[in-house]
Amino acid sequence: MAGSLLITRIGELVTNFPPAADGEEGGPGAFAAISDAALVVEDERVVWTGPSARAPAADALVDAAGRAVLPGFVDSHAHLVFAGDRSAEFAARMAGGSYAAGGIRSTVAATRAATDAELRAGLHRLAGEMLRQGTTTFECKSGYGLTVADERRSVALAAEVTPEVTFLGAHVVAPEFDGDAGRYVELVCGPMLEACAPHSRWVDVFCERGAFGADEARAVLTAGQAAGLIPRIHASQLGPGPGVLLAVELGAASADHCTFLTDPDVDALASSATVATLLPGAEFGTRQPYPDARRLLGAGVTVALATDCNPGSSYTTSMPFCVALAVRDMRMTTREAVWAATAGGARALRRTDVGYLAPGARADLIMLDAPSHAHLAYRPGVPLVRAVWKSGRRAGYGLAAPAAGYE
Ligand code: NIG
Ligand code: FE
Repeated sequence: MAGSLLITRIGELVTNFPPAADGEEGGPGAFAAISDAALVVEDERVVWTGPSARAPAADALVDAAGRAVLPGFVDSHAHLVFAGDRSAEFAARMAGGSYAAGGIRSTVAATRAATDAELRAGLHRLAGEMLRQGTTTFECKSGYGLTVADERRSVALAAEVTPEVTFLGAHVVAPEFDGDAGRYVELVCGPMLEACAPHSRWVDVFCERGAFGADEARAVLTAGQAAGLIPRIHASQLGPGPGVLLAVELGAASADHCTFLTDPDVDALASSATVATLLPGAEFGTRQPYPDARRLLGAGVTVALATDCNPGSSYTTSMPFCVALAVRDMRMTTREAVWAATAGGARALRRTDVGYLAPGARADLIMLDAPSHAHLAYRPGVPLVRAVWKSGRRAGYGLAAPAAGYE
């Protein structure tokens, strides 16, 4: 963007930047919002926020006419590099079948058979869906290749669309290694990691019955750490397991799913910097019980919300949908859910430039066709995201025309 942009007459500006207490400096923190607000963007960053009546002049003006403006969503868990379709598996599940980790293998076969161009087209389609629905930062995992070459191309493709790339070679044991998980883990920790680490920031493992146990998961994550990657982990999605304690032991940025937690799991998360990332789209898509968000919040655990977009358990790119599920079915307040989908995701990705709106923040923001953040849950399924700015630039992807006349 050339020059500065003033967005004025914002009905509710969600900042996640509580005002400074006397004698203290403000900072990114709990949910916070300003009414009748304005915001100025310059050179990819927010440079001013405050009451509309005191807004400084700028080169360009957008009149929000009472609409809400929020930080862009930060989707910290998504599997977007894949081919194939598993709608029949979903339909069978909805007719009474159950979900098991093995379904991943059908996507692996389709992904291996796809060309780079086909994988890239699918990835860009999903990234476009995300942006249209207000996601301005997202993580993207590999994990449907499970050979050195297919995992390498998965992380390389992911790196074309996001800096938050996760190597998930340990998604399930590759079919060629059936009955010999140990040898597959050696491949993941050796040549596969070596090929993927240059394109990745994170290393992940599916620590679950039917996937990888504690020792295997520890081997993968510590090898990843030795290669300069930061661990995150799929933990306790389908039943209680060792994943959360392992995440805390290794200082993982995030333990994801957290659907079946023990008291020691919750205590460990509460006394650590590891974020609990809840993925209600997966419970929706598998008809499992939702994670107990209130128990985690009550214990003081930092909670993030993400889509888990993948073709098996949660084929949604919509953070507004996840916010609505979290509020309706996990009993998070609208403020808690919006915080978890923005600032919480930023914590899970260890990003200090996104998830809040205050001077210095990256100008990643969304305008709703609604006067407050609560409408994201109050009006489920309605495309409320009217405009998206990424690093201060108005995003395209066929969004509606610029804001005007909200009467
Ligand atoms: O996060 N848990 C492992 N991975 C995905 C499911 C992948 C699949 O079923 O294809 C998840 O839910
Ligand atoms: Fe996942």
